[in-house]
Amino acid sequence: MQIPEPLARSVRDARHVVALTGAGISAESGLPTFREAQTGLWARYRPEDLATPEAFARDPALVWNWYAWRRSLVRAAEPNAAHYALVRLAQHAARLTLITQNVDGLHRRAGSADVIELHGDVMRTKCSREGTVVNAVDAHPSDDALEAPPRCPRCGAYLRPDVVWFGEALPSASLETASEAAARCDVFLSIGTSGIVFPAASLLPLALESGAAVVVVNPEPQPGTDHERAWHLQASATEALPALVEAAWQGRGQV
Ligand code: OAD
Repeated sequence: MQIPEPLARSVRDARHVVALTGAGISAESGLPTFREAQTGLWARYRPEDLATPEAFARDPALVWNWYAWRRSLVRAAEPNAAHYALVRLAQHAARLTLITQNVDGLHRRAGSADVIELHGDVMRTKCSREGTVVNAVDAHPSDDALEAPPRCPRCGAYLRPDVVWFGEALPSASLETASEAAARCDVFLSIGTSGIVFPAASLLPLALESGAAVVVVNPEPQPGTDHERAWHLQASATEALPALVEAAWQGRGQV
């Protein structure tokens, strides 16, 4: 895809680039986004009705088994060209802060370092009472449906995925680092996110208010991004991101 030269220049010249990713960047790795139709067995449930502390209290097995299914999808998925483009962007840019709302670990698997995972990691498990991280995923590698979640070896409470559910607070240190980066960056990339789930959705307006240029990568229009300093690359992440990195640093070493 064609990247306008002024946009390529802003990315190339930025002292600090922030990239915020959402479910859309992993869509082409075969992981369904939150707001598109879920498939198969889980099609009749809405993620918003499963990813909550109330849902877990009401029916722990249902929530555990939904995450077991999502873990199986994540295990089968591979990072795609957009994840790898962000690894290259980190190598070329003066500084990159990579923030993700995804719990799939695909940025790390692609080779990105220091990823700020605002919503946790679906492959990690914690005690639902004490919050201690317990590696139960190794103990239950099959991801089969269970009649009840496994129990914490220390206190006997149910284990749960180490992800942030609706109504829960984000890890405060990660959110603070992400907000500081958004407020200080020159270029803010918003990639594959609907921008409607707060507080992650506050990062883009924060960057705009602080004077950054914003680049939105989304095949769909994204509300709240109509601004003179906002570019919209209306394409898939695997199309737009490699093209952006290529346009910014072409002829300046391997991209
Ligand atoms: P959403 O499912 O809300 O939005 C995905 C966005 O990606 C949409 O705007 C799509 O248009 C866009 N998209 C789809 N395919 C794409 C592609 N190939 N390339 C680029 N963009 C594409 O996902 P998030 O914004 O990540 O939170 O959702 C935010 C949070 O809400 C999630 O982290 C999760 C959730 O419910 C928790 O679990 C706490």
